[in-house]
Amino acid sequence: MKFFLDSANLQEIEEAISWGVISGITTNPTLVSKETGSFNELVKEICRLLQDKPVSVEVLSTTSGGMVEEAGRLAALAENIVIKIPMGAEGLKAVYRLSHEGKKVPCNVTLVFSANQALLASRAGAAYVSPFVGRIDDISWDGVGLVKEITNIFTCHKLDTYVIAASIRHPVHVEQVAVAGAHVATVPFAVLQQMSRHPLTDLGIERFLADWEKTRRNEII
Ligand code: G3P
Repeated sequence: MKFFLDSANLQEIEEAISWGVISGITTNPTLVSKETGSFNELVKEICRLLQDKPVSVEVLSTTSGGMVEEAGRLAALAENIVIKIPMGAEGLKAVYRLSHEGKKVPCNVTLVFSANQALLASRAGAAYVSPFVGRIDDISWDGVGLVKEITNIFTCHKLDTYVIAASIRHPVHVEQVAVAGAHVATVPFAVLQQMSRHPLTDLGIERFLADWEKTRRNEII
């Protein structure tokens, strides 16, 4: 399973890239609304930092025609743009056109809450589908179960759409979606930080340093 960072914040993105674990970025209108400055410049800078890795940017239009137009403008900003399209009939039409016409643009179908939605998105030509794990858990359904269902269906029917587990809220979600077969988990920076830590690691470092200090404090290594 690969990791994408779910963020539009340049400091977080630069820090996460420096860890060497990030294979792409996902953004959404809520994440972008937390940042300042020109939207186009922000997107271009994120794409530059990611080099050739995919950066999902979401359209705001609600008609397929509007989505396709918007996607054209976004795709012109950088080569590594992936167009994030909300699930629905208009979204499917847009995905079909963007994935099949002219200079094809990869699409990430977002706000996926059922296996049927994922299946439709894949058949329309989506490169990625994004089931929202946390938001399903929020309404007392099983977000990880949905990821498992979608990955099983895609494997069984030899569909090559990648499953991005989105709306990841904590490190346990990450482990669970990895076991469920997600190709990608897109994680907020705070979750990435939580994943890197363990109390026994901190304690271990503290003890090693204390032991060194007792007998070899003046030795340089
Ligand atoms: O990738 C989608 C994600 O950003 C949504 O997360 O926590 O708002 O449900 P959340």
